[in-house]
Order: sequence, then structure tokens, then C-alpha cells
Amino acid sequence: MEGQSLTIRKPDDFHVHLRDGNVLKTVAPLSAAQFGRILVMPNLKPPVVTVEDAKQYRDRILKAVPGVDLIMTLYLTDNTTPEMIRDAANSGIVKACKLYPAGVTTNSASGVTSLDKISKALDAMEQLGIILCVHGEVTPDVREDMFDREREFVRSVLVRITSTYPKLKVVVEHVSTKEAVEYVLSHPSDNISATVTPQHLCFDRSALFKNSKLHMDLFCLPILKTRDDREAIRSAVKSGSRRFFAGTDSAPHPQCDKIGGAAGVFSAAAAVELYAEAFDEMDAMEQLEPFLSENGARFYGLELNHGSLSLKKTPKEVPRRIAIENSEEYLTPMKAGELLSWSVVG
Ligand code: NCD
Ligand code: DOR
Ligand code: ZN
Ligand code: ZN
Repeated sequence: MEGQSLTIRKPDDFHVHLRDGNVLKTVAPLSAAQFGRILVMPNLKPPVVTVEDAKQYRDRILKAVPGVDLIMTLYLTDNTTPEMIRDAANSGIVKACKLYPAGVTTNSASGVTSLDKISKALDAMEQLGIILCVHGEVTPDVREDMFDREREFVRSVLVRITSTYPKLKVVVEHVSTKEAVEYVLSHPSDNISATVTPQHLCFDRSALFKNSKLHMDLFCLPILKTRDDREAIRSAVKSGSRRFFAGTDSAPHPQCDKIGGAAGVFSAAAAVELYAEAFDEMDAMEQLEPFLSENGARFYGLELNHGSLSLKKTPKEVPRRIAIENSEEYLTPMKAGELLSWSVVG
């Protein structure tokens, strides 16, 4: 119904790329405008590997958006030590570490080459309650189909992680396949959860090739999968399982880099509206608030936010482009130029 309105507890984004420099100045205020807390990904060049790096990065973000509530993460490498994890646990600002298998995605060259290399770090994380965020794809291999990398990760890596470190809390980031969804749903303990992006809820892989054209704006990793995979993600979210929550994976790249093939969907310009539209389409509006504002905070052991956010069923036009501060370059948002059915009104 047009005109309908909804007020929810202030949401959190448990997976976002804020970048650095001019891009940071451009995108951080967009996320801060909608979300109470933002979990910041560490894949800068060079990556955020120590608490000291995280502190400095946090200061740069706070300079761009004073007062924003940040949850920092460290980037795991083969050289991450238990001491570095202990520092993180004592820091008060770092809650999670991100596992990028080396070479899977943007700025993942210094990622982890084998689980054995980080066994001591994972032990320490398990003991100290630092959460493991995983980019759940196996490292590209000529024998591996591009669309099977997440399924293979679940079979060969995730199963090993959860059985070797049963008390470790794990977030399967940007879940994109039925198999990963089923793994999360059927896991015997509540130590595992998944973030869901707007693009993996809204689209399947056909959208990448709509009207016989390549739509680079929807190219991200893990790549969009089949309609069945998307339906599995939708059903899990609609079921009200507390194991699924919002992590936009908003991943801005200057348009020239997108044209060059960079992976990442930039959704921060209308993240809550994109989720609201998807939930409305799924006939699951009653799950919007737990998904955006409760499930993730509970998993991370954080208090729920106190503020609220109001939405109205009135069209919101997504900007066609967003100029990068102090630059000739721009970012193209997800669903650029389209009308979304819900608007954030305050
Ligand atoms: C960089 C930035 O923030 O300045 N953004 C990014 O990591 N994508 C610029 C760049 O490396 O393209
Ligand atoms: O599409 C993606 N973009 N997937 C990732 O895992 C990284 C991200 C980025 O940093 O651009
Ligand atoms: Zn990722
Ligand atoms: Zn990401």
C-alpha cells in the first residue's frame, strides 16, 4: 500500500567497504546516515593487519564522519600471530578478523594460503571470542568453475573450520548459494551465521546479462548465482532464522575501475531502501527489523541500538552517479536511476 510507514530500531551494517582517501570521504557519510553501527572491512592497500593499523584507519574514518560507531576488523594473513589476536581482543575496537583465501577477490593477494598457516590465530580467536568473518570462496583454480567456488569452500574449508574450532563464531559473508544457506541453517550450534547483501536477495545471475548486455554494476564476488540459489537465500531470510542478518558488502569502485572489471556492488547510497524493497517483494516485511537491527547485534554480542529509523512506502530515486569528492571520477550505485518503493524518512 502506497503511503504505508514503518519505524524500526536503528539498523547495523555488518559488512561494508569504506575504502580510504576521497572514496572514504564520499561513502562513509552515506552508511553513517542509515546505520547505527558499521562493521568495516580491512582489505585496504595495504591491508589492515594489526590493531595499530585498525586504530589509524578508524581515526581516518572518524575524521570523515565524526561520531560514527565503528566495528573494526583485521585482515588475516599467513603471518597473523596469537599475540596479534590478543591485542585485538584487548583493543576494544576490533571484534572480528576476516579470512580472505589468497587471491579470491579485490585486494586479497596477502590473504591466507592455507588453514594450517592460521591455526594458532584461529585457536586464539576461538578462546578470546574474536569472530571469524569468511569470504567463503576457494582460491581460483583453472579446474574450478567460477560459480562453484562458494560450494567448494563450504565442502572443503568451512566444514574443517567448524569441526576443528567448535567454539569459534563464524560469519559466512555475502552468502550466495543454496548449499551455504543450508549449511548455516543445519549447523548444530548457534556459532555460525551469514550476512546477506541486497544484490544476492534481489538478483540472480541472469541480471548480469539482461537485454544481452553486460551489467558491470552487478558484478561482485561471490558472483550472483542461479534463481534457485536466490530462492534459498530468500526463504532463509523469510523463515525468520536469527542466523541471517544484513551485511551490505557495499564495495565502491570508481567507474573507470568498474569498466575495467573490478568486483563490487556499491549499495550504500540506498542500502536500507534496497533491503526494504526486497523484503516487501518477498512478503516478509515483518522480518525486516530482526534482519536489519537485531540478529547481527545478538550474534556479535552487542546491545541493540537505541535509536530508530523510519521508512515510508513512497518512491525513492537512486542517484545515477555519485561524484567522488575532490575528483573527476564517480561511483555508480546499485539500481542507479531506478525508483525504489520505500524511502528512509528519518
Ligand atoms: C581507493 C581510494 O579509496 O582512494 N579506492 C579503492 O580502494 N577502491 C582508490 C583506488 O584504489 O581505486
Ligand atoms: O565484490 C566484491 N568486492 N567482493 C569482495 O569480496 C571484495 C569487494 C571489494 O573489496 O571490492
Ligand atoms: Zn568478501
Ligand atoms: Zn566485502
